[in-house]
Amino acid sequence: MRVMLLPGDGIGPEVLAASLPFLSWAAQKSQTPLDLDEGLIGGASIDASGVPLTAQTVVCCEAVDAVLLGAVGGPSWDAIEAGLRPERGLLALRKALGVYANLRPVRVWPELAAHSVLTPERAVDTDLVIVRELTGGLYFGPRGRDHEKAWDTLVYSPAEVRRVARVALELAQARRGRLTSVDKANVLASSRLWREVVEDEARAFDGVWLEHLYVDNAAMQLVADPCQFDVIVTGNLFGDILSDLAAATTGSLGTLPSASIGSGFALYEPVHGSAPDIAGTGAANPMGTILSVAMCVEHSMGEPDLATEIREAVRRTVARGDVPADLGGQASTTAFSASVMERL
Ligand code: NAD
Ligand code: IPM
Ligand code: MN
Repeated sequence: MRVMLLPGDGIGPEVLAASLPFLSWAAQKSQTPLDLDEGLIGGASIDASGVPLTAQTVVCCEAVDAVLLGAVGGPSWDAIEAGLRPERGLLALRKALGVYANLRPVRVWPELAAHSVLTPERAVDTDLVIVRELTGGLYFGPRGRDHEKAWDTLVYSPAEVRRVARVALELAQARRGRLTSVDKANVLASSRLWREVVEDEARAFDGVWLEHLYVDNAAMQLVADPCQFDVIVTGNLFGDILSDLAAATTGSLGTLPSASIGSGFALYEPVHGSAPDIAGTGAANPMGTILSVAMCVEHSMGEPDLATEIREAVRRTVARGDVPADLGGQASTTAFSASVMERL
């Protein structure tokens, strides 16, 4: 199995390093030969070559079975013109790899509920997946600026909506059979198209119960009663915002993993960013990245049982209170990782 590592910026390299032992562990357990390569993205790439993503990095990523990414961005590169910012490198990579569906699972184990921003009773047993459309919408529509205005355009084609809807419907079918599609169809034309296409696609999925929520209501429901959700499918920007909001249920953005899928291979990355406020202090929580490795082990290595073992080890480590500062503990990035490995 060939894996490309893109540590990126800020806490990216720290959380990625803390998650790699779990990839090696799974490779050893399953007797999968592991071939790791490393590349630059974001600010690290700008510093080395002036651009946030080089053609060479894209070529390397296209040649492997999975890409594991830390995070990009930070204050050193905030003044750079928009088209060359670190974040643009990440967006260009997602587009180049064609990973149009971003799966962001949120699970609140009983051991994690005490850390939730919500009351533990409200958060406990939350088990949902946000399926975020990743290569279209407001992030990729025509944009510009002249002397009197600036604009971004929200464009979706039926084909773009259909393929991500299908991923979400298949996921819902394999889980509890509930799909919530989130849009702003009371205002946006692109959302009305979104709703029609999701409705149409859902007709082929007998066992799936489909509802539609406006995004403002969905945001409120996510904190008021997160347990009501099974699978949520939504556009690029709404999915970005709702997934950070959903981190309120676990108590920290540092806990959430993601997998982005398209035609075949996948890109795995934690949901959080480069956290410049804690970079270099050893306080970063690597849980989101370790759980992203678990998703990689499940989907790209094809070893769901080993992925479950990794998740269980994380759960038992949280139960012991061996957690980093974002969850109220004192464990450093490396100490948390070592403790999870000890459970394993
Ligand atoms: P952020 O996610 O980096 O941080 C938000 C808050 O959460 C901060 O207080 C941070 O300390 C905390 N946090 C995040 N991850 C954590 C972890 N693993 N452990 C403990 N605490 C954690 O968001 P931001 O501050 O808005 O953005 C910082 C930079 O990261 C910006 O340049 C932004 O563009 C970039 N960013 C990148 C990604 C990505 O690479 N996927 C995602 C979001 C933001
Ligand atoms: C994320 C991030 C990115 C996004 C940024 C850094 C471009 O916030 O992965 O959630 O908005 O997609
Ligand atoms: Mn985000």
